[in-house]
This record gives sequence, C-alpha cells and structure tokens, in this order.
Amino acid sequence: MMRQKIILDCDPGHDDAIALMVAARHPAIELLGVTVVAGNQTLDKTLPNALHLCQHLGLDVPVYAGMPRPLVREQVVAANIHGESGLDGPVFAPLTRQAEKTPAVRYLIDTLLASDGDIALVPVGPLTNIAVAIRSEPRILQKIQRIVLMGGAYGLGNTTPAAEFNIYADPEAAHVVFSSGVPIAMMGLDLTNQTACTMDVIERMEGFGNVGGRLFGDIMRFTWKTQHEAYGLDGGPVHDVTCVAYLIDPTIFTMKEMYVEVDRSGGPSYGRTVCDYFGTTGKPANCQVGITLDGDRFWDLVADCVARYN
Ligand code: RIB
Ligand code: CA
Repeated sequence: MMRQKIILDCDPGHDDAIALMVAARHPAIELLGVTVVAGNQTLDKTLPNALHLCQHLGLDVPVYAGMPRPLVREQVVAANIHGESGLDGPVFAPLTRQAEKTPAVRYLIDTLLASDGDIALVPVGPLTNIAVAIRSEPRILQKIQRIVLMGGAYGLGNTTPAAEFNIYADPEAAHVVFSSGVPIAMMGLDLTNQTACTMDVIERMEGFGNVGGRLFGDIMRFTWKTQHEAYGLDGGPVHDVTCVAYLIDPTIFTMKEMYVEVDRSGGPSYGRTVCDYFGTTGKPANCQVGITLDGDRFWDLVADCVARYN
C-alpha cells in the first residue's frame, strides 16, 4: 500500500497531540517531520510540548521550530482551553529530546523542493509557517501535493462569534494559504465539533492499558473539562485529528467544494473564513470543506492507532 507522506505542522495543543499519535502509528501515513508554530501557546511552550510527546511516545520523527509570532496581528493564545503550558494534564519525564537545528520554514522548503510532489502538508495550528514558506520560496507551490488544514468555519467561530482560533490567530497567513492555488481540504468547526471526545471514548482508549491509552486519557480528561466550561460541549473535540483521518480514509467524510476567503478587514469578522456555501459569489471553488463525518468509523480509526502503542 502506498503510504501518504505528510508533514504535520502543529501547535500542541491537546488535539494536536492526538493527531500526532494517529499520524505516527497509522500504516497508511508516512510522517516525515513535525513543524511547530506558535498558536495555542507561545512557541517556547508548543515546541517543548511537541518534543515531550515524541519522547514520551518513543517517536523517531524530527521536530522543527517554526514561527514564534503571527505575521501582522498581535499574538493570541488559547490558554482557556489548553492551559498555561499549552498541554496541561499529562505529566512528562524531564525533556531530553531536542529540536532539529534547521528552522521549520527551511525544512519545509528544502523537503518540498527535493520531493516528487507527493507530500501533503497538514497544518493544524495557525498557518504562519506555511505562509512564510510559500512567500519565501514560491516554487514550492508546484511541489505541495495538497494542504489538509484544520481551521475556519462556515458557521460560528469559537474565538470570536465569527472566527475560528487557527485562522483568527493569523488571518494574513491564512489568506496566503487560501489564495495560493494549492488544493486545500478545510476541516472547519462545523465538521470538527462532531468529534467531541466523550467520557466513554476516553475510557475506551484508556482500556488498552498502554502508553497510548494512558496519554490519551491524561490529555482528553483535561479538555473534557475546559471545553465543557467554555462551550458546554460533552467533551473536547479532537479538531486536528480530522485532517489525518481524512488522509487515511476520506470515505468517512462528506465534503463540499466552496470558494473560501479570509476576512482581513479588521472589523468584528476579522479572521473569519467567508465560505461561499451556496455559490453566490460565482467565484471558482478553491477548497473542499468538511461537512459531516461517520463518528463510529472515526473513533475506530483513532482506537486502532492508540492500540498500536506499547
Ligand atoms: O479551533 C481549534 C483549533 O485551535 C485546533 O487546532 C486547536 O488545537 C487550536 O489550535
Ligand atoms: Ca492545533
């Protein structure tokens, strides 16, 4: 079976952590590298979080430090959901894993230019790293197979009434990506909120009695609480995991082609993904947008990966 090559660009982040767990163990995925960006927390927190996860899970995957701030706007973080560390809940051993010396943007450019155009980029945080790579070296546009990103919404936002966090945290970077012409699959909140990780799912994963199940429980028990307090959800959606699951088995999802534009006007809808659901603009679609997913098949896929950790 041809494995899908990916680079996971993330801001761990509780759901980023689960996305990493799935990407690192599913046989259909070849995880080439992990690039880290400021998002849920500042880079001095998201980078060690990524390193802790790789060390704890025994993942032999290179980790690269990316952009520490958004392109233009002031920095925002999501401590209300992910805590002061960005990954509150699990307790890790002292960190010995180190990031690669190569900066993330350099790694993205060099890896893509040297590739056969068979690498999918999977950004599940603010799009700053991807945007800087595109602007620094436009030749990579012909080399990116596709971008499967977590971000945006055609309905309500989660950070403002209009905007989802990853887009809101760097709208200008998101504009660079959505206007790039690269094939994009957008997993927005309308889809990802269908993955609320309820207590029975947590207990299912913990039931494997392995390092993956225990880490899953430590991570998701924390966001069960914060997501309930913030949004009244019966569990924390594993937003980012939908991107990896889509690459593994797209039949779990229904998608709809749309023209999507990022609102950079700076008003109350700053950072909104304006999604042309009904085609009223007449503009050609630039994006496949996630609509529904089969929850049972989704969680079976996640469980299959969690079970693979010793
Ligand atoms: O809005 C959800 C997104 O913001 C997820 O990627 C989560 O990790 C946070 O980054
Ligand atoms: Ca994220």
